[in-house]
Order: sequence, then structure tokens, then C-alpha cells
Amino acid sequence: MELTRLRGFRDLIGADARAMSLVEGRARALFERYSIKEIRIPVLERLQLYLRSTGETSDIVEKQMYMFTDRDEGETVVALRPEGTPGVVRAYIEAGLDRTEPEQRLFYSGPMFRRERPQKGRYRQFYQFGVEVFGRPDAACDAELLIMIDELCRDLKIPFTTEINSIGDQKCRPAFREALLQWGREHWDQLCDDCHNRIDRNPLRLLDCKIDAKLAASAPNPLDYLCDECRAHFDRVKELLIAANVQYAVNPRMVRGLDYYTRTAFEVMAGGLGAQSTVVAGGRYDGLVEAMSGAAVAGIGFAIGVDRIALALEAAGVLPAVTPDAAIISMGPAATRHAVVVARDLRAANLNVEMLSPERKMKTLLARASKIGARFAVIIGDDELARGVVQLRDLKQSTQREVVAAEAASAIADARGH
Ligand code: HAM
Repeated sequence: MELTRLRGFRDLIGADARAMSLVEGRARALFERYSIKEIRIPVLERLQLYLRSTGETSDIVEKQMYMFTDRDEGETVVALRPEGTPGVVRAYIEAGLDRTEPEQRLFYSGPMFRRERPQKGRYRQFYQFGVEVFGRPDAACDAELLIMIDELCRDLKIPFTTEINSIGDQKCRPAFREALLQWGREHWDQLCDDCHNRIDRNPLRLLDCKIDAKLAASAPNPLDYLCDECRAHFDRVKELLIAANVQYAVNPRMVRGLDYYTRTAFEVMAGGLGAQSTVVAGGRYDGLVEAMSGAAVAGIGFAIGVDRIALALEAAGVLPAVTPDAAIISMGPAATRHAVVVARDLRAANLNVEMLSPERKMKTLLARASKIGARFAVIIGDDELARGVVQLRDLKQSTQREVVAAEAASAIADARGH
């Protein structure tokens, strides 16, 4: 086939799509219980938005953006969104909420686009379910989000671990940055090319060095450089997590790949995913709204990698299969007229029903009913029609009995309950 999908882009069919919807459905229900409201934002934005927020020294902006020049008069350079935070911050400021109602709890979901090297769990179009909270500089908010993520992962029954860190704020970060720069220069020969390129622009990313994790372990520790306020904030977050019985580990090497973070940063890793194991990531970004010409409002948020959680669910084998309760088999035009009514009544009784083609042979249809995993075949011919009954064939136990058509739903529901 010539017109195949692009590299890194996926078609999700059946169970794979369902796993994604399941994650999204659970996240939505949970977020609503935490009083978080939905926001929908565009997929296409000005490139400038991401340069200003995600940051020019982030990998995303440096090499992963899908962008093009639009055909409007001003030839605006636009980009497919690589993440949701910048669009949400822009929408928040554009709606004037930073001044009128600064305290907001918002969630969003949808596709994001990054031109990364594809591998398992890393795609060029992937789905995020994210939360952004504005106007809450307090540590209780950091803890509440981490408690919510913990609840989601437990609810989904995936094995997971949570790591947190604090990378300080505008006040204490410069000293840490300076210490890292000095360390980087002292270890120049041992650092990778990426590190050489970003040492001056974003020395924090040295801690992220993928090539020499052992060397990075000897680098200065951000927690040693926190000012009193940042330390107190981080201590309070940990105290609240302990109070809520949330398991976590402090990882002082975790710096996150985006430029806007301050203070608390966190990542959740799931088992069974190989290299791309981070399923949720986020942190605080207290200076971002102001840096994007809004009011001085605190911000914190995270995004769930829906594709990765779906993979984790499949790996953990915790996805319940959805199979029909009944396959309807009708023989002849009159019986089929009755069968559509029987099918409708069964569905009204909340049963999952598939009507099979009336134009095939009985043997083929029974084979099809088994193939789709139907528990029962409901067979209706002219004789059954005349007598107001159906043949109920239990495909699991290979038994068959006749029931009054109006009682088929309760007979099937009873068997399902057992
Ligand atoms: P991020 O760490 O870039 O953060 O992405 C969040 C999550 O999205 C990752 O942990 C991962 O699960 C998933 N993800 C990222 N890239 C890919 C990919 N190529 N394929 C599959 N999944 C991927 C952000 O995007 C921030 N906006 C999170 C945030 C919100 N921070 C504050 N508020």
C-alpha cells in the first residue's frame, strides 16, 4: 500500500482505542470530583507562544515542532501544539481571568504533536490529559494534585512509582545554576554533545545527561541550594503527602525538559513500558503567567501521557474485555423484522447485542457468534416467530433452550450475573 500512515503516527483500533478512552473516562470522572473544570483549546497556535513558554532551550522547541507559515497576509508562523500548558495559559490570560478570577482549576485533553524519534511509548502524535491550576501558590495545592494522580493510578491498577523534586525559584536558582555551570566546565571532556550545546543556555539539563548518569550523580544537588521559602514549601508538600499516605521518592536529579518550572517538579513512572516509562509529569510554574504578559499569578499542573498509561494497562493485563452478551441470528425476512425488535428490547435492558447478517447460513453465523465472544446466540426463525419464542443458545456451556421472547432479556441478564 502506497498511502500508509506517517512514521510515529498511529491508528488505534478496537482494544487499543478502548484502553485510551478508558484512561480518559476515568481521569475525567476523577478530575470532576476534584472540582476541576474543562477547557478546550486549539490544536494550532502561533509558534511564538511555544518559544515564549515551553522555552527556546527545550528539546521540544529546538527540534520537535511541527510548524509552517500560514497563507494569511501577515504570513503567521504557526505550530501544532506539542503540549497543552502554553495554550491554557494563553487562553486564561486572553479571557482576562488572571485579573477577574485568578483562581482557576482547569483540565484539557487531546492530541499533542512532537517530531521525536518514534519508539514504543513515544509517538509523534500522542494524547495528553492535563490539569492546570492558577492562583494557588500554596504547597497544599501541589500535594492535592499528587494525591489525585496517586488515586488515578491506583484506580487504574497499574504498578507505579512517584518521584518529586524541587528546583527552586528565581531567587535561589541563579546560585544553583552557577554551581552547575562550574561543575560542567570542570567535567567538560566527559559530557555529551547535547550537554556541550546547552551548558550555557540551560545548565539544569546537565542533570538529565542520558549518556553518563553516573557522572551526573556527582553534580551539585538542587536541594542543597534552596532558599528558606522554597525549602519550607517542599517540606510542606512532603508532609502533606505523608499525611495522605502517598508513597513517593525524592529524586534530586529530576529537572524536567521544559523551561518554565519552579519549585516542585514530579514524574510518575509505570512498570512494563521499557525506556518510555514516565506516564505523568508536571510541576509548578509560578512565573509563567507573568512572563506571558499576564498578572503575577502562580501556576501548577501536570499532563498524563494517555498512550503510555494505556500501554501500562495492557501490560498489566487489567483491561476487561468487552464482548457481546448476545448475537442475534434470524432466518428469513419475517423473522428478521421481529429480530430487530428483540435486539432493541435487549439493548434497552442494558445488554450488549450484535445483530448478525440474516443473509448467511446458520453454521457460519454460529461460528461468527463464537468468534466475537458472544455469551448467547438468540436464534429466531419463522417457527419461533409464530410461537412468540426465541432459541437461547448458551455458547459457553453449549446448551440450548427455548424462552418466551419477552423473557429473553432477563434470562440473559441472569446468566451474566453468575
Ligand atoms: P511532558 O513531560 O513533556 O510535560 O509530557 C507529559 C507526559 O506526556 C509525559 O510524561 C509522557 O507520558 C507524555 N508524552 C510526552 N511526549 C510523548 C510522546 N512523544 N509520545 C507519547 N507520550 C508522550 C508536559 O507536556 C507539560 N505540559 C506537563 C505540565 C502541565 N506541566 C505543567 N502543567
